[in-house]
Amino acid sequence: MTIASESAVVSPTASALGTEWWRSAVIYQIYPRSFADLTGDGVGDLPGITARLDSLAALGVDAIWLSPFYTSPQKDAGYDVADYCDVDPLFGTLADFDALQNRAHELGLRVIVDIVPNHTSDAHRWFQEAIATPAGSAERARYMFRDGKGASGDLPPNNWESVFGGPAWTRLTEPDGTPGQWYLHLFDSSQPDLDWENPWVREQFRDILRFWLDRGVDGFRVDVAHGMIKQAGLPDYTPTPGGSMGGSGSAAEGVSLEPGISDHSEDQPTAPFWAQDGVHEIYRDWHTVLAAYDGDRVLCAEAWVEPLSKLARWVRPDEMHQAFNFSYLETPWTGPALRRIIDDSISAFASVGAPSTWVLSNHDVVRHASRLALTAENPQGAGIGPNSAGLPDPDLGLHRARAASALMLGLPGSAYVYQGEELGLPEVIHLPDAARQDPTWFRTNGERYGRDGCRVPIPWEADAPAFGFNATGESWLPQPEEWAGYARDAQLGVEGSTLELYTALLALRRESDLGMGTLEWITGLGESVVAFTNAGITVIANTGQVPVELPLGTVLASSGPVIGGSLPADTTVWLKLAE
Ligand code: NOJ
Repeated sequence: MTIASESAVVSPTASALGTEWWRSAVIYQIYPRSFADLTGDGVGDLPGITARLDSLAALGVDAIWLSPFYTSPQKDAGYDVADYCDVDPLFGTLADFDALQNRAHELGLRVIVDIVPNHTSDAHRWFQEAIATPAGSAERARYMFRDGKGASGDLPPNNWESVFGGPAWTRLTEPDGTPGQWYLHLFDSSQPDLDWENPWVREQFRDILRFWLDRGVDGFRVDVAHGMIKQAGLPDYTPTPGGSMGGSGSAAEGVSLEPGISDHSEDQPTAPFWAQDGVHEIYRDWHTVLAAYDGDRVLCAEAWVEPLSKLARWVRPDEMHQAFNFSYLETPWTGPALRRIIDDSISAFASVGAPSTWVLSNHDVVRHASRLALTAENPQGAGIGPNSAGLPDPDLGLHRARAASALMLGLPGSAYVYQGEELGLPEVIHLPDAARQDPTWFRTNGERYGRDGCRVPIPWEADAPAFGFNATGESWLPQPEEWAGYARDAQLGVEGSTLELYTALLALRRESDLGMGTLEWITGLGESVVAFTNAGITVIANTGQVPVELPLGTVLASSGPVIGGSLPADTTVWLKLAE
């Protein structure tokens, strides 16, 4: 078998960049509601996380990112924050956070927390004060209040729609009972958008960042990092069907949490509430706040912006450090699409000196062990349920997920792993309607299932109540019976299990410093094969239907059995090539 090497796609080298840990880190996302529940009330908590951190150190990740655990009415699972500087009693206390962070640091794990600056909860003191004072007050100016249209102001100020479905404006009832102004909420009506043109808002968030930096956090994942500035005049906007998140698509398409990335090549016109130039000034400011602290603190943008060359603006040297690569997450499991997105990612981020990131799953998307085997279009955020079209074959999904993860973890840059993907967890499709909690489900009258299916509490022990999530058997979303088979203890030490695969890949990745490596494409193995060498390890993924003959070498790890020197369909192998 002859294979040809193509020119290297260069990413910055370790020596050129010093020891900035985040350039190559594998960051594990903990969704606190669903990770581990020490109190036994059915919702995960911070002490539960602390008690389970050893298993993440053993898995071999470098850092954890915690989705919000702040004081919140939990209308959007904590992304509706009522106090940014305290812990919701549901999850514990600030002292519990400190204990968690200390334990993580003892284990060599960095800690990233989530910051939600686009909107607060309507229960936040800032909003409560805003609605208790008259139109035009300084308190109202914290948020996006506007008079309605029409003679009596009973029409919303513009036609924008909420990402979760329905209108993006809600009308206030003033304290005297009369109908009043409208406020903007790009998400749920319980999540009013802040007005980031207001210097007062900026000052509050500098203080919030410092509150957590002083406590010792290593960085922030920034929610809706493309949404904080709205176009002046708030013009009406009608998205083009099938448009893109950072471009012409918008929440108003009514199909996704944050509309899907459909075209990676064009810089399309921007929706008036996404990716406005003004956001960059905010991140330059935040960059200086972080830079005043020692120890390489980081900002990671959750910005659904395309194409990647535009997303790269979020990670220019004086802005954020990382941005989630959702274009990669949304790439279909085919050779040409994957090769193209990997090339585009590395070069777009390298053009501003940033590492590429890679991600396949999170708490907003259908888990990749199901998504990669869907046979019908499924817009991001829509979720899947019993009546969805094109439901996945679970075996095929798991096969592909393992192969996709093995491909991702071989790439240079930083990778994100969502809790449970190391167990091969699929999306939970058969959740009873009455159990669903995602605002998307309610705001679309059940037309979109939403994101609950990827948020079900994860299994630790096959034979314990709630599969070891807690000791009582309670669970805020029901766990499927077959999850016993996915439990961590059922996989630990079991050859060929998904957990052992991740552990082996992460160990090899660390040993060979793949995160700081350089990707060199290998061609000649066929259209459906994605093959490259990184830091001496050859990664070959077969996305096609027919087995592929492998070059001679030693198998270091493999997502499925490699028989007689040939790589089966939907399998990825890591090889040390023969000299
Ligand atoms: C993105 C978060 O990941 C998602 O869970 C949340 O609903 C929205 N932003 C609004 O905060």
